[in-house]
Amino acid sequence: MTDPQTLDALKAELLDVALEAAARAGAFLRDGRPDDLGVAATKTSAVDVVTEMDIASEKLITDFLAERRPDDGVLGEEGASREGTSGVQWVIDPIDGTVNYLYGRPDWSVSIAARKDGETIVGVVAAPMRAETYRAVLGQGAFVNDRPAHARVAPPFEQALVGTGFGYLEARRVHQADVVRQLIPKVRDIRRGGSAAIDLCDIAVGRMDAYYERGLNPWDFAAGDLIAREAGALTGGRPGEPVSPELTIAAPPGLFEPLQKWLEELGAWHD
Ligand code: IPD
Ligand code: CA
Repeated sequence: MTDPQTLDALKAELLDVALEAAARAGAFLRDGRPDDLGVAATKTSAVDVVTEMDIASEKLITDFLAERRPDDGVLGEEGASREGTSGVQWVIDPIDGTVNYLYGRPDWSVSIAARKDGETIVGVVAAPMRAETYRAVLGQGAFVNDRPAHARVAPPFEQALVGTGFGYLEARRVHQADVVRQLIPKVRDIRRGGSAAIDLCDIAVGRMDAYYERGLNPWDFAAGDLIAREAGALTGGRPGEPVSPELTIAAPPGLFEPLQKWLEELGAWHD
């Protein structure tokens, strides 16, 4: 076990490194986006795209981490994968919201989390087109730029503004659309932002009441999950389960529980 002082020093160092990496990648992506940006490759389906900028951003981040923290492990959306020896693992989404980025829409982000022995202890999400960076350290609260971030107080269920997202596979989307169809008459409205990391940070800063999505990967939710929790929201998956690729839910106490129950009944956790 790491003693508390050493752990605090480690958290401070990892936060510093994550903030610097996210700032560098964010500036690179904001200032370097080619006007004729196109699709470099597709992944799980024809609409699941990668651009040259996703790949370059991941390289920029992993090169920086290798220089500053050479003994750490790395897991990145575009294939970065390294076993470390330090017990620290970086979980990286070099562009979360690639489709928004491809179209020149502003809601995309760089998401970087640090896990120690499997637990996320630092999360940073940079949203350059909003001029905002969200960050959290486990047990130390969440911040947007240098202001403390707080989730909203739970509204009545029927007044909740609920964000969600959709996967890239047709069969999954058909079911996701069916879940939304049943949820939309029950709540204030639905939003589909296009960057799961920003959606989770929007819970942290009170710009949305709740968010859920099936099919996220660790790089989509690792940083935003910690930021939402440190801002006072509850996060989880199916009842009793933590956030996972199966299901991610974030909402303030009082709204989280009925939403989780609804999503369980609607089968939001399966295809
Ligand atoms: C996607 C975004 C989107 C979510 C998808 C993710 P990507 O990540 O976070 O909001 O709905 O499930 O895959 O592909 O832009 O990195
Ligand atoms: Ca992503």
